[in-house]
Order: sequence, then C-alpha cells, then structure tokens
Amino acid sequence: MSDPDFLVVANRLPVDLERAADGTQRWTQSPGGLVSALEPFLRSRKGAWIGWPGVPDVEVDQFADDGLILHPVPLTSAEVRDYYEGFSNATLWPLYHDVVQRPVFDRRWWDAYVRVNQRFADACAKIAGQGATVWVQDYQLQLVPSMLRELRPDLRIGFFLHIPFPPVELFMQLPWRAELVRGLIGADLVGFHRPGGAQNFLWLAGQLISLEPSRGAVGVRSRPGHVQVGDRTVRVGAFPISIDSAGLDALARTPEVSKRASDIRESLGNPRIVLLGVDRLDYTKGIDLRLQAFQELLQDGLVAPEDVAFVQLATPSRERVEHYQRMRGDIERIVSRINGEFATVGHPVVHYLHQSVGRSELAAFFRASDVMVVTPLRDGMNLVCKEYVACKHDQKGALVLSEFAGAAAELTSAFLVNPHDLDGVKRALHTAITLDPAEGRRRMRALRRQVLTHDVDRWARSFLDALGA
Ligand code: ADP
Ligand code: F6P
Repeated sequence: MSDPDFLVVANRLPVDLERAADGTQRWTQSPGGLVSALEPFLRSRKGAWIGWPGVPDVEVDQFADDGLILHPVPLTSAEVRDYYEGFSNATLWPLYHDVVQRPVFDRRWWDAYVRVNQRFADACAKIAGQGATVWVQDYQLQLVPSMLRELRPDLRIGFFLHIPFPPVELFMQLPWRAELVRGLIGADLVGFHRPGGAQNFLWLAGQLISLEPSRGAVGVRSRPGHVQVGDRTVRVGAFPISIDSAGLDALARTPEVSKRASDIRESLGNPRIVLLGVDRLDYTKGIDLRLQAFQELLQDGLVAPEDVAFVQLATPSRERVEHYQRMRGDIERIVSRINGEFATVGHPVVHYLHQSVGRSELAAFFRASDVMVVTPLRDGMNLVCKEYVACKHDQKGALVLSEFAGAAAELTSAFLVNPHDLDGVKRALHTAITLDPAEGRRRMRALRRQVLTHDVDRWARSFLDALGA
C-alpha cells in the first residue's frame, strides 16, 4: 500500500466495531452526520481515514475497505471516559451548543484530550505521504492541526467543525480557550458551517493569541477571512455541509422503498397524518419539546388521536454521559404520558423506537411521513431535514424546522420555528398538518431545488478548493 496523499482524521472511523456477548465481532456504520456526509465522498476519492474503532481497549491493524484505507487509533477505557465522554461530550459539546446543559470543566479531562489529540496527530504524521492533504474533523480533535504541523510541516492541513462555533462570550468561559485557538490555527484553512462561526473564531484569534485577523465579512463558500501566523496565511471560511442528495433521491424512488413506505403506513393503521422525528438521542435535538407541543395539540382538541401517528426514531448516543441518561428518562416519560392519555388498545399515538435503522428503511420512513419535525435548540447544520427533502420526489410532505439549526439559513421554505416558543411550535405543527396540498408542493419544490443543487460533493469541493488541495 503506498502512502496516502489524502487523509481524513476524525474521532470515529466510518465503521464501529461491535462485539457480541459470544465474542464474535462485526463492523457497523458509525452514528452521526459527520459519517453520513463524509463517507460517500471519501469512498469515491479513495483516501485514508484515521479514527477510533468505537470500542475501548482494542488494537486493530490498519485495513482496506473497498479501496479506502481505515487506520484505527486505539483508546483505553479511561480515555473514552475522560477524552470522549468527558472533555468532548460533557465540556465542549454543551459549551458549543449554547450551554443548553451546563458544561463541566475538569482538568483531568483536558489532560486526556491533549494526550489523545497527540496520538491522532502522531498516527497521521506516520502514514501521510509527502505533501499530502489532511482534513481534520470536528470538535474532538481541535489540537490536531498544530500538533500535526509541528511533526509534518510539508502537509496541507484543513480543519472543519461540524457543530456550531459558539458566541465569543460562551467560548471565553473555557479555561483552555487560548490553547484551542492555537490548536486550530495550525491548519491552512479552518471551516465552519456559518459565516458567524468563522467571524467569532477570527475575533478570538485576535483577542486570545494576539494575531491580526482580517476585518471584512466572511461569505458562504466565498470571501474567507484570514489571519497571518508568521509566514503562513491561515484562511477561515464558511462551508455549509450537505448530503448525497442524488443518491438518496434515487434510493427513495426504488420500488422497494415505495413498497416499504406504504407498509409502514399500513402498520401504523393508515392514519390521515404521519409525523416523524429522526435524531441521535441528544438533548440538543429538542425531542422533548416537539412531543410536548404534539401532546398539547391533542389536549386542545386541535388534532384527533385517531387521525395521527407520531413516529420518533432515536439512535442511542453517548449513553454513559449523565446529561444523556437524564434526557432519555424525560423523553420516555413524555411518550408514555401521551400514549397513556390518547392511545387505544393496539393503536399507540406515539411510536418511539430507541434504535438505529438502515438507509433504505430510513428513506421509507421519510417517504411515509407527512410532516417532518426537526426542532433542535441548536444544531451545527442538521442533515436529517435535508435527507427528508431529498426523499420527497412526489413533492408531498412538510418540514417544520428550528431556526437554530444551521440548515434554516438554506431551507427557508420550511415552517421555521423557535423551539423555545411552545405555542409557536404548536402553531407550526398545526399549519403543517392542515396544509393546503398546492402550498405544500410549492414549498417542497423550493426545498428540493436547494438540497439537490447543494450536495455533499459541492461542500467538499468548495472546502478543498479553498484549501488549495
Ligand atoms: P448529528 O450529526 O448531530 O447526529 P445530523 O442530523 O447532522 O445530526 O446527522 C444525523 C445522521 O444520523 C443523519 O444522517 C441521520 O439520517 C442519521 N440518523 C439519525 N437517527 C437515526 C436513526 N434512528 N436511524 C438511522 N439513522 C439515523
Ligand atoms: O457532527 C456531530 C458529531 O458529534 C460527530 O462528530 C460525531 O461523529 C457524531 O456527531 C456522532 O456522535 P458520537 O461519535 O459521539 O457518537
């Protein structure tokens, strides 16, 4: 195998190692939007992907998967606790998502974060070909760009943040704020979903490490900002991520998916309206809020229980982190309260599946639903809403979307809601449920135009062109 000239470095590999109780092992697709977006792109490009195999205390050799080199980086149980569950998901995740839960600042977790970031940088430095392009992903690895530059100044290094970059006042709470900015500034290009994130970062580079950032407004896929670090120019831009729109559109049109979609409706009892939520089970996603709004619509008599079914698919996520455990309990209580009040024997009103489903099954759920409900309190982009739109070639269906998802800036024909405003969410749900079909088609046409012309390839090309790769 020759040394790769294009590498992605991410916390997870695109596949997770699953170990069954009987000792057998298998690889399954990793959760989350980063993998959904990047995997199809990287497979077409045949590079290398460096990441954790998803379970602690295993050493797996590098292997090739359909032309893609997968290079596992091991983590011990203590590192999973301190670097992944701790600093990444109980410090940075809530801090970067508007502090919707209180972030924990623990010095031991920071030490583990530094140590693990160094391990990823070392692994990459060891296998990258001379002058290769390295694309570092997301908040778990913000120190890697500088660590890698130190080891391999010949590399071209890009960094992309898949979650929101917070307002500066919130970022300033972080005891290690200057270290993180210094870590990112090792890249040649630092990318965010939205111009606001890029601008916040530029301001912080000026405040925290005394660099002189550019002052002009950053555009979307254009007019990146910049900052001079010695003889290097670091560019800072906005590149909204997307999905494999054409691939999903084609999948949703297959007879198998169509048949499965009508079977799903049938097994729900052929209700007049099917509402759908699809998320990782995460407190930022506002699953509880949408269920509360739905419950109130039923209580107010605006929606009849025999007319509707609400399907909520929730991928298990970060199950050992306390915030997540609490939220899971809350959501399960709301689900049983709604069903307790409004279900009849054999006909629940809310169908809650704490499971991950395959791509075709997911496409069938999208096709089967009339109203897609996406209500995060904060989300970097949110790919689920774009996936829904890509599956609706019949131009039926309505999208209720939080203003606080990055996607809201692009999907302006959705019913945009402030998820903190329960009455507003109720109104939007009611409007979507009772929507005039012609108005629905008009909105869906506009949404599809946006999603089909702005796919993940365009995202990756615009980032890599700006990186000069
Ligand atoms: P995040 O990256 O925070 O999880 P995104 O909406 O950007 O959020 O991406 C989530 C990805 O995970 C999407 O591709 C979505 O289809 C997938 N996904 C979420 N929940 C499920 C589920 N229950 N089953 C299968 N896929 C899911
Ligand atoms: O995009 C957000 C993200 O955190 C990715 O970095 C991550 O891979 C995905 O969601 C799923 O989260 P986790 O890897 O913690 O299961």
